[in-house]
Amino acid sequence: MLVAEEAETITEFGGMPTPPSHIAIIMDGNGRWAKKRLLPKVAGHRKGAEVVRKCVKECSRIGVKYLTLYAFSSENWKRPEDEVKDLMGLLKHYLNNEIDQLNKQNVRLRFIGGRERLSPAINELIENAEKKTGANTGLQLILALNYGAQSEIVMAARELARQVAEGSLSPDDIDEGMFAKHLYLPDIPDPDVIIRTSGEQRLSNFLLWQAAYSEFIFVETLWPDFTEESIAEAICEYHKRERRYGARP
Ligand code: IPE
Ligand code: IPE
Ligand code: MG
Repeated sequence: MLVAEEAETITEFGGMPTPPSHIAIIMDGNGRWAKKRLLPKVAGHRKGAEVVRKCVKECSRIGVKYLTLYAFSSENWKRPEDEVKDLMGLLKHYLNNEIDQLNKQNVRLRFIGGRERLSPAINELIENAEKKTGANTGLQLILALNYGAQSEIVMAARELARQVAEGSLSPDDIDEGMFAKHLYLPDIPDPDVIIRTSGEQRLSNFLLWQAAYSEFIFVETLWPDFTEESIAEAICEYHKRERRYGARP
């Protein structure tokens, strides 16, 4: 017989453990995937976008509530102009083609990151996606575009400083909870797990505040080779971890 704690992790899906509520992924390795095949880098990014499609579908199917995907960092503008152009083109293509499909899957699309540097066409697609899927109650898919955690934290600090300067806020009233309310999407719980593909073991300016108690899973798989099975493996690994939040010895 299963003890209560174990029983909790078993779902009706063929014994697959209950997924964590919020999975965040640093989708890395597109360039190396293409290089290994002597293909142009854009081929890796294109394959990466297909994997996003499959990954969203699978997370939605198994009942993940929030999936945050790091698609373009605020530092990725430093890449060659042609690559940035390819990535923005793919993003436009993805949003243009997927919104209806995601809407049918009851997925709610949301975004984090600075919008000012994204093109008007992409901003329009973002607003359209938010509007169209805003009432959906299934998976919340959060795309991090032109996202940098340090500037997200600075943005929150600046807003609180403004309120203090205006006299509407006392510095003594600022605490972690209030600070977090000034980040991009304050209603979304912190990620339970952050997966990074391609063997790199760093955060690269992703969710620095929200990662305080996330479990980290680093896998060697390059993002374009990531599959439904890779998700299942990561979830199994997650369930082996003991989350203590500093409370237990
Ligand atoms: C991840 O793949 C995609 C983005 C950062 C947009 P990379 O392009 O970083 O792939 P590698 O790290 O060069 O293999
Ligand atoms: C992180 O990957 C950003 C995304 C996956 C969008 P990078 O490939 O840009 O990170 P670094 O440069 O290796 O740290
Ligand atoms: Mg990379």
